[in-house]
Amino acid sequence: MAFKVGFIGFGGMISGYHLGTICRDDVPFEAVAAFDIDPNRRAAAVEKGLIAYDTLEDFLSAGGYDLVVVGTANNYHCEMACRAMEAGFNVMVEKPAARNTVELEKMIETSEKTGKLFTVHQNRRWDPDFLKIRQAIEDGVIGKPYMIESRIHSPNGNGDMYGWRAMNDHGGGMLLDWGVHMLDQVLYMIDEPIKTVSANVFSLWSEEVDDYAKVIITFRSGLAAQVEVVTYSPIAEARWNVYGDRGAMTMQEMGAPAIHVRRIKEDRFAKHQADAFEDYKVVMREHRRHFIDEFEEFDTDKTPGGGWHSLYQNLGGVLAGTEELIVKPAQVLRCMKVIEAAFKSSREGVTVQF
Ligand SMILES: NC(=O)c1ccc[n+]([C@@H]2O[C@H](COP(=O)([O-])OP(=O)(O)OC[C@H]3O[C@@H](n4cnc5c(N)ncnc54)[C@H](O)[C@@H]3O)[C@@H](O)[C@H]2O)c1
Repeated sequence: MAFKVGFIGFGGMISGYHLGTICRDDVPFEAVAAFDIDPNRRAAAVEKGLIAYDTLEDFLSAGGYDLVVVGTANNYHCEMACRAMEAGFNVMVEKPAARNTVELEKMIETSEKTGKLFTVHQNRRWDPDFLKIRQAIEDGVIGKPYMIESRIHSPNGNGDMYGWRAMNDHGGGMLLDWGVHMLDQVLYMIDEPIKTVSANVFSLWSEEVDDYAKVIITFRSGLAAQVEVVTYSPIAEARWNVYGDRGAMTMQEMGAPAIHVRRIKEDRFAKHQADAFEDYKVVMREHRRHFIDEFEEFDTDKTPGGGWHSLYQNLGGVLAGTEELIVKPAQVLRCMKVIEAAFKSSREGVTVQF
């Protein structure tokens, strides 16, 4: 059985990615209708075989949706999602879920009040690079991690802020655009209490919104994570660097086939521990050799399969009552709180205590 989907907003992401994914044989959804304020986008929806509505009221009262997907500019997510849930429909909104925690809490409250499902299209939880890094951490490849660095450094302006993305009141800016993906990945991976958030968020090219952000999160356990998103940098740093008490690993690019790992072998580590009290200088020399000699590639064949369509497959399972929702509202709210703390930290020059 295919669950019926209605779209609010039929722009680039919905008409390209979402519609294409819903048409896959292994995704249990079918697209039936769309509402967009732009007549050209409504015509595009009709061309794809959907019923297009001129007004939100007509779209909602026509009904028959198992899921409404909201893919408008960010400032309309809250209103559209709440109206759709109040009309009796389950809702998934595009990321960022909202512009701030006030809007997001309203959406979560509406979901609780109406009993309708509310989730967010955090599709990058299924990025292969993220899944490989997460698996390697879980497998203890570098021991206990103490610093996780996640970066997007674009040498060619990828991620330029344009159109509504360059407008503050539309929820534009890099931290809400790419930053929300990267922070969601890190926070999904590290389900630990957060201690502090500090950040530097500014604009290099954009007049109204940020196009550079560096956010550092410390956790109560002592682990730290850094997320950096750079719209323009002629030198690109690695997508991931992770440091642990038994080694370190790096993944150069998002599409890199493998993770490069350097670690201390267990027997050497034990010897190092035993020698540590005997001769400090010998131990330090040995210690350095441990790192220099040993290179390994993480066996990425073990990594669970990626693919953004897995999110829709999970939603299908949730609607069928056979699976637990993966992108949970509480996780999205935790991430939005970190984003708000990052803006505050940068604006006021403070470290925000969580
Ligand atoms: N998850 C991802 O990887 C990913 C990638 C790109 C975009 N997005 C998100 O998808 C959303 C849309 O981005 P996009 O690139 O498709 O933008 P877009 O500008 O191409 O599309 C937005 C569409 O919404 C319509 N719209 C605007 N206001 C509306 C309203 N009040 N009522 C009905 N329709 C309205 C516009 O006419 C347009 O067709 C954003 O939230 C964005 O952050 C997510």
